[in-house]
Amino acid sequence: MDPVIAWHTEHVYFHQLLGVLQRQLDLFHRGEPPNYELILDVVSYLSEYADKTHHPREDVAFARLVKHCPDLELALARLGQEHRVIEHAGETLLGLIRAVLGGAVIARAEIEMAAATYLVYYGNHIAKEEEDVLPRAAKELKPEDWEAVRNAVPQIRDPLFDREAGGRFRELRRQIALEA
Ligand SMILES: [Fe+2]
Ligand SMILES: [Fe+2]
Repeated sequence: MDPVIAWHTEHVYFHQLLGVLQRQLDLFHRGEPPNYELILDVVSYLSEYADKTHHPREDVAFARLVKHCPDLELALARLGQEHRVIEHAGETLLGLIRAVLGGAVIARAEIEMAAATYLVYYGNHIAKEEEDVLPRAAKELKPEDWEAVRNAVPQIRDPLFDREAGGRFRELRRQIALEA
């Protein structure tokens, strides 16, 4: 697959997952109980897959791209910094959700704030990459750059689409299919 299309495709389904999270957050506003397991699945998946593969590959793509496009230096540095912020915000949210599922009493406002921060930050991050980075990368990066991007981390099967991995993310797959 064309590397930019593959990159964009991951953004599309990350965006869908954030939509799943958004709808759970909307339940808070309606005073209905959210599905904490589903929230846990979304954030676990993004922590385990996006933080460990998508973002490290982007970090290499950004380092390569800045050599071709020095005008993007500040924008790319900010996006790289955001990867670390997203990882941290995800860990905070995961910690809260795991605590709730473990029976701890946590103020609803605290979970809402952590989830909303994660959503807004992540959504804006993806939008910026789509707008500012992917079109330039498509134009400027050479086959050897893409090879370095691919080799940034070992190839792993995407657990969301790996049906052999069992039913762990089955509900998440169903939710995405509903959205598609
Ligand atoms: Fe990113
Ligand atoms: Fe991205």
